[in-house]
Amino acid sequence: MLSERMQTAINKQINAELYSSYLYLSMASYFESVDLSGCASWMYAQTQEEIVHAMKMYDYVNEAGGRVILDAIDKPQEAWDSPLAVFEHAYKHEQLVTSLINDLMNLAIEEKDHATQIFLQWFVSEQVEEEASASGVVNRLKLAGDHGLFMVDKELGQRAMPIPLPEKK
Ligand code: FEO
Repeated sequence: MLSERMQTAINKQINAELYSSYLYLSMASYFESVDLSGCASWMYAQTQEEIVHAMKMYDYVNEAGGRVILDAIDKPQEAWDSPLAVFEHAYKHEQLVTSLINDLMNLAIEEKDHATQIFLQWFVSEQVEEEASASGVVNRLKLAGDHGLFMVDKELGQRAMPIPLPEKK
């Protein structure tokens, strides 16, 4: 059984994961507007991943006898100065999410909630990947410069989509 404090904290993180999904969808929309379809596609995959993160937490709260309470999702940023600025923002955002996951883990330890600690371990490892993946794109974009942007865009378009998107007409 989840403590009230733990339940509230996980519900807050569900909101943060859904916000992440919304933010990446906004980034995808920015990339569509500047005709970088590979970067947009990378962001669609990221959007879907964040929903999976939120749903893992949603299922856990229910399984642990708690109650999921959904809150309003903040409006995400809608414009950036450059493709690089978008991925730098994504990397910074993932660093923030890592700190939120660490705070959740610290609370589970403080509450002596062993089940939640085990549950959160997956997210701790996932955040290492999430940061590496965003910072990897930042580095590739820096190396490529303006001339190599379309090559990086093509490469990012190869990222597998967790859920297939509707065909474009
Ligand atoms: Fe759900 Fe990208 O962290």
